[in-house]
Amino acid sequence: MISRETIDEIKNRIDIVDVVSDFVSLKRSGQNYKALSPFTNEKTPSFYVVPSKGIFKDFSSGKGGDGITFVMEHEGMSYVEALRYLAKKYGVEVKEEILTAEDTLSQNERDSLYIVMNFAKEHYKNLLLHHDEGISIGLSYFRERGFNDRIIEKFELGYSLNEWHNLEETATKQGYSKSVLEKAGLIIRKNDDTTYDRFRGRVIFPVHNLAGKVIAFGARILSKEKDQPKYINSPETEIYHKSQVLYGLFQAKNEIRKQDFCYLVEGYTDVISLHLAGIENAVASSGTALTEEQIRLMRRFTENVTVLFDGDAAGVKAAMRGIDLILKGGLNVRVVLLPDGEDPDSYSRKMGSSEFQHYLKSSTTDFISFKINLLSANISNDPIKKAEVIREIVNSIALIPDPIKRSVYIRETGDLLRIQEPVLLTELNKILIQDRRKRDQEYLRNEPKEPLPPIYEESIQVSKTDTLTMVQMQERETIRLLLNYTESHVDDERKVLDFMLHELDEVEFNNPVYREIFDEFRVKAEQGIRLDNFYFLENGSDQVKRAVADLMTSRYETSPHWSEKYHIYFSHERDEINKISYTNVLRLKLRLIQKLIEDNLDELKATNDENQIDHYLEVQSELKKMQKEITDILGIVVLK
Ligand code: CTP
Ligand code: MN
Repeated sequence: MISRETIDEIKNRIDIVDVVSDFVSLKRSGQNYKALSPFTNEKTPSFYVVPSKGIFKDFSSGKGGDGITFVMEHEGMSYVEALRYLAKKYGVEVKEEILTAEDTLSQNERDSLYIVMNFAKEHYKNLLLHHDEGISIGLSYFRERGFNDRIIEKFELGYSLNEWHNLEETATKQGYSKSVLEKAGLIIRKNDDTTYDRFRGRVIFPVHNLAGKVIAFGARILSKEKDQPKYINSPETEIYHKSQVLYGLFQAKNEIRKQDFCYLVEGYTDVISLHLAGIENAVASSGTALTEEQIRLMRRFTENVTVLFDGDAAGVKAAMRGIDLILKGGLNVRVVLLPDGEDPDSYSRKMGSSEFQHYLKSSTTDFISFKINLLSANISNDPIKKAEVIREIVNSIALIPDPIKRSVYIRETGDLLRIQEPVLLTELNKILIQDRRKRDQEYLRNEPKEPLPPIYEESIQVSKTDTLTMVQMQERETIRLLLNYTESHVDDERKVLDFMLHELDEVEFNNPVYREIFDEFRVKAEQGIRLDNFYFLENGSDQVKRAVADLMTSRYETSPHWSEKYHIYFSHERDEINKISYTNVLRLKLRLIQKLIEDNLDELKATNDENQIDHYLEVQSELKKMQKEITDILGIVVLK
């Protein structure tokens, strides 16, 4: 543990401009500095360094903080790694606090594992490039696959001789103990206590952690021996937990940040082939099925994942499972499915780099279209099949934590399958309610100490083009509630109409039709006249009539059968109208604030005037504060 004094000393010495300048070329802009965001791929600068406060703020990615945070974010370092880096930069002596004997032991053990893994990596690299067997077997294999020197070095590929004790003997001669070799998973001890090398006669793919240290190896067989596994991988060790590692992330992380998305592929060679084809934002969940931890790891670098899998049955199955897990992790997922029998490696080589890049761009689909294409091959006249497809897709949508995103996808599914939204919503609600029940039961069984976490987590990351849509969708929901529950009580005194007029007093709707409806409610209410939806159906403009009719019927009495089916859902909505009105108003405010944030950011980017920059920065941080206040409340209230 680094001592408190050391941390304070580092913080005192940090010059934010100096720290950032090591990675980003800053331009002075008044008292502050400005640059293109190092975290996204933007064209106009929205990355600011404010020396007077010792902070940076990146408006395009939302990241911000002090010099330590910057190094962590930019270099993908842990807190401690960033501290060490900065200590070195500023010549601060790092004082470690006294560790318990146990801490020291495990720290030493981890260190020794890193060291021996590094040794092994160098050894395997060396054999590949300089040993006869390595060259004639390993290197020629890589050459056949089109791997050039640059890529071999970038991924630090190697070769293990086809011998039982080569690594063990070389390592022990250099002073490494058998015990540490064994703990690192490099040698295997048999029952009779004799040992042998784990990797023999195979090409070696080192697995790096985020700091670039080797923590494991994957080793691919070259011969066609049937009874041997194609890959042998390092076992779990003190420094390698395979469910928490993504192969290639170290080499890909900067590009992932820049592109703000990442390709997820199946294996070692797929990652490398993509790099060869000039696509460097690719990672693989090598050796395991994708895990939640791996998704969280990806999330540190981007919210957008494109799953790129083989077109065979196994690939499809893996893609399906991957999609659901990624959705559940709150990330946006797109899919590319290669033609049957091809993997990224074979296909990129067949097509050539630029054509392959083009192919990827043009055949990326969202997950809904992907599932529909896949599942609905022969459903056209089979209602049962169609119902299955619907259930399958809605099941995936139900996994998405953000309700707004869910509703966008529901709408899209409706369009693609030519199904009315209410049908899909019922299905979705059923699943959500079931999930909720399950969670409640589990929760009660486990003797709760903390309140149940909300089901709906509001995601505040909205991409630019979507903000206005989001605002308008929320406006639509507001008007829907207002029209359908005008005179329902939100509390002892107020009804929905009064509540909304009061709460949205200063709000101007973006959508002209909804604005017209809301203003009419407002103006008439000031004259003491309380409107209802029939008023609009009779007196509104054509657009208004259509909108009102749509909002009245869209989820309601479209058919008696439906209203029966909806009974639970809608009676639920009526019972909860106070809460629903409340959260709806907050959501609308949230969306409007997000729109203001975006507009303000555009102004900020456009100006060069020092005073204006300060002004916009201040506005920005005020708006962010307001946004946070609302999301904090929504996190609690949205519960029901
Ligand atoms: N894998 C494994 N053990 C196996 C087979 C596969 O751990 N016996 C993992 C490896 O991480 C591999 C990934 O699953 O990279 C995908 O398998 P596959 O497509 O067979 O391997 P590739 O690495 O793509 O190898 P190649 O293209 O050379 O066949
Ligand atoms: Mn493959």
